[in-house]
Amino acid sequence: MKISIIGTGYVGLVSGTCFADLGHSVICLDKDKTKIKSLSQGESSIYEPGLDEILKRNIQNKRLSFTTSYKIACQTDLLILCIDTPAKKTGEPNLSNLKLSLKSISRDLKKDIFIVTKSTVPIGTNQYIKNFIENSSSFKINIISNPEFLKEGCAVQDFFFPSRIVIGCESKASREIMKELYAPLGLPSQKFIYMKVQSAELTKYASNSFLATKISFINKISQIADHANADIHEIKKGIGSDSRIGNEFLNAGLGYGGSCFPKDIKALINFEKKFKIDHSLFSVVEEINNQQFFIFYKKIIDAIGQKRLKRSSFMIWGLSFKPNTNDVRDSIALRLIRLLTDQVKHLYLYDPEAIRESHVYLSQYSNITYCKNAYEHMQSANALILCTEWPEFQNPEIKKLHSLKDKKIFDGRNVLNKEVILKAGIEYFGLGS
Ligand code: UGA
Repeated sequence: MKISIIGTGYVGLVSGTCFADLGHSVICLDKDKTKIKSLSQGESSIYEPGLDEILKRNIQNKRLSFTTSYKIACQTDLLILCIDTPAKKTGEPNLSNLKLSLKSISRDLKKDIFIVTKSTVPIGTNQYIKNFIENSSSFKINIISNPEFLKEGCAVQDFFFPSRIVIGCESKASREIMKELYAPLGLPSQKFIYMKVQSAELTKYASNSFLATKISFINKISQIADHANADIHEIKKGIGSDSRIGNEFLNAGLGYGGSCFPKDIKALINFEKKFKIDHSLFSVVEEINNQQFFIFYKKIIDAIGQKRLKRSSFMIWGLSFKPNTNDVRDSIALRLIRLLTDQVKHLYLYDPEAIRESHVYLSQYSNITYCKNAYEHMQSANALILCTEWPEFQNPEIKKLHSLKDKKIFDGRNVLNKEVILKAGIEYFGLGS
């Protein structure tokens, strides 16, 4: 099948590359000429395990190509929209990129077409897309909402082994084309969940907000555990082994970040406000996420002492919003760094993949040094702060941690072995443990 992906960001690039690997002929469009040039040469714009190899293979096989031209992208049976919809200050999703794209599509469309929306869009957007293009061109649109559930860091794995494929559509023809699109995955029919377009739009928000709620829930329990001298790891085991609860997304830490959860929770609150529905649940989820950040920050300040802070330096492990990605958008680590830089002597930062990306966001600070490895400059730091649980941080070389001047570790993801660290004579500060 010939398909075009509109918007070659995270979701667009992973989906386009993987659809090509399934045997489809894929053209990915983006307005960023530099990105398109390097992608055409097989250079990925993101770090995602497994992606590079599939990208190069499919460019070589001529199943995958890149363009900035809507004229070329519109010569297809199926357009897949993967345009970013960042949150405005009000929390409302910003649809201006999507609208610009729709104008170009209407201009260059030459026939009736199926349009699949993978971007997370507010409820009602798919109908808006259909109306917009049908009113500004002479062609009929079959609109399909097919929300994306890929997780950064294991997006390729998620693509090939999806938990489910949600399809919101209104016609038999749309169902058929989606079956054809995903047929090479060889999934059992129960993996396909068909529904109304609006239900599919809301399903995406409901999934992400449920997971964010689960994280805020365990974070709230970790706050109680801190005061009750209980251990959040034991509690996680205790509740997660109930199959109705499950143990995924029950890791307490310094809060959720990234380009999805914070934005989607804000969008839901905004939607509730618009329709005058009580928005207390998701507002509290957001508030707890914020609280957790300040609780962790306060642990650092209290342990070091406000007065000594100006003379203290910190080693920070992890800059990306989660492990196995170089994405630093809405990263809690960067938020903490911004808050600390003015108050401390120096920060030594290390991340296995996200140093180059962090430069862009932290360029205004002069008291920052990027380290070549996790232990470089350890002896210049008073304490270590772990913000992102990259696997290489989880079994640290204890001997090297000994060179920390104050012998203190703040574990923002609760992944270090507390017993081992305490045994080595180093103070340990986690969240609920
Ligand atoms: C999330 C969803 O998990 C995907 O299903 C969805 O497709 C994607 O958003 C999207 O809307 O595009 P992602 O943002 O890549 O995926 O990352 P997650 O693994 O969900 O993690 C989000 C944040 O929650 C991270 O900051 C992570 O550190 C935090 N988290 C996760 C916790 O604090 N505790 C946990 O137990 C799990």
